[in-house]
Amino acid sequence: MTDKLRVGVIGCGEISGLTTWGYRADERTSIYAIADPNTERAEQRAAEWKAEKVYTDYRKLLDDKAVDIAMIITPHDLHKQMVVDALDAGKHVSVQKPMARNAEECKAMVQAAKRAKGKFQVFECYPFYPPIAKAKELIDANEIGDVSMIRLRTTSGSLQCGWELTSTSWEWKFNQERVGGGTMFDDMHHKYALALFFGGPIEKVSAFIENPGMFLDTPATVMWRHKEGQRYGILDATYSPDLIIDTKYYPVEERVEITGSKGIIWVTRLTGGLMKIAPLIMYRDGETHSFSNIPAEWEDGFIRCAQHFIDCILADKQPYLSAEQGLQVVQFGRAVYKSAEEGVAVQPDSIV
Ligand SMILES: NC(=O)c1ccc[n+]([C@@H]2O[C@H](COP(=O)([O-])OP(=O)(O)OC[C@H]3O[C@@H](n4cnc5c(N)ncnc54)[C@H](O)[C@@H]3O)[C@@H](O)[C@H]2O)c1
Repeated sequence: MTDKLRVGVIGCGEISGLTTWGYRADERTSIYAIADPNTERAEQRAAEWKAEKVYTDYRKLLDDKAVDIAMIITPHDLHKQMVVDALDAGKHVSVQKPMARNAEECKAMVQAAKRAKGKFQVFECYPFYPPIAKAKELIDANEIGDVSMIRLRTTSGSLQCGWELTSTSWEWKFNQERVGGGTMFDDMHHKYALALFFGGPIEKVSAFIENPGMFLDTPATVMWRHKEGQRYGILDATYSPDLIIDTKYYPVEERVEITGSKGIIWVTRLTGGLMKIAPLIMYRDGETHSFSNIPAEWEDGFIRCAQHFIDCILADKQPYLSAEQGLQVVQFGRAVYKSAEEGVAVQPDSIV
């Protein structure tokens, strides 16, 4: 292949290294341009990623005809306008999760994706994490029978462990208005996306949240019923400030347990890995199967999510998450807050 797809990265902060990794590692793409008002950081990244152009204004990057793919990795309050502008400029567009802060913004983006020539993806890496993808494959192959319960757990640990966070780019994450909520909106996006990935659309959701909207709005519990089958889900989120988590990434420990009519699947690690056991385990017919040899680095989900988008562009296929699927995840997150605030069960579909 001679002509590589040229990627323009809008926002080159904390997570841009992992988010662009798949593009940098793939011979079908190259990082061509970067736009970020933090010019020092942008110049640094450009040198590291061998990008030819650096812009301070993202609209200049979108005016650049050489850019094929716009990869948007910015604070959430900027997602809607950037995505709409990028799609209207004729680019293929991938935006880091969450699609936006609320359903109204997402719906404007759904419309932009419908009229666009380019492909659109909400970059949600969790379904692409190999033990999660393998769990879905086993479920689809009926290995554990009909799924009746999806259990998702998250424990945030001491900020003394994991990678060093760059304080300059972090201020907006404490601003509820810019984020759209606290961790029960932001980090839980990954878990809501997994609930939809494994169990399909949600009928109704009920939640308890301590201090909703604060940065770490935990402890929290969420329960939901899926529309299809007799299928339920439970999520719990906690913060253990003195818990040292074994991780190269954020100090977060996650576990997944899926119960079917004839078996159970566990994903035992994602961002962090406290249990020194296989990343994926399945029990059925009196036997425990440990999948010890599948890739299980958290970064693998990012790499595969980017490669999936490239595959979809080249094969003219619909990427995952689509605009409509991105909207569903955000509606789930908004329904969780509404339920916690009003003390009632909420239908995510009713969130406008
Ligand atoms: N696991 C994951 O998939 C994961 C993890 C962390 C963050 N994220 C998501 O990635 C996105 C970015 O998060 P982050 O942690 O990298 O944030 P960050 O604050 O570290 O980086 C954001 C970057 O955007 C830049 N920026 C701000 N305004 C801009 C503008 N007008 N034009 C261009 N660039 C602009 C900032 O200068 C900064 O470099 C968010 O959507 C976040 O939710 C995803």
